[in-house]
Amino acid sequence: TAYRRQRQMCIRDSFMSVLPILIHPDPRLKKVCEPVSDLDDDLRALADNMLETMYQAPGIGLAAPQIGVTKRMLVMDCIKEEGEAPQPMVLINPEILQSSDDTNEYEEGCLSIPDQFGMVTRPSEVRVGFLDRDGNPQERDFDGLWATCVQHEIDHLNGKLFIDYLGSVRRQMITQKMKKLKRELARG
Ligand code: NI
Repeated sequence: TAYRRQRQMCIRDSFMSVLPILIHPDPRLKKVCEPVSDLDDDLRALADNMLETMYQAPGIGLAAPQIGVTKRMLVMDCIKEEGEAPQPMVLINPEILQSSDDTNEYEEGCLSIPDQFGMVTRPSEVRVGFLDRDGNPQERDFDGLWATCVQHEIDHLNGKLFIDYLGSVRRQMITQKMKKLKRELARG
């Protein structure tokens, strides 16, 4: 997820690297991702690099398919006030266990759809089950921006983008803009 509000925070670690983020439209962003069955050091390193990539973008969430890895893994940190301690999270095989009837509307963006935003309505609270970075099963309740972000990122694991919630005219307009952007990027 990307939001208009910029964040200044950045984590620095020489073992981490910033990965290229796929831009919509890309067939890899439309795939239903495979569950992670072997959480090894390589995958943990990938999660750390995803966090670094997300912080640098800057964004508050990033799903593995956005860096071309079609596995059910995402990272997020929705702390956006400067001076607040970061809360990096790694969610592996996340599953929404419960959703509230109450909804929340947020202006969403996406690191794979740069500089485009749209209002999306989602349940305001969700309970999510997942494996953490160490492979321990966790259950956590999310609300506010965290709830929006985790649902947006889980959508990525099912090949769904926030623009899929918008009207088809708006969706096609954004897709055309992204095709143009990709042509420009390819030309350098
Ligand atoms: Ni996104």
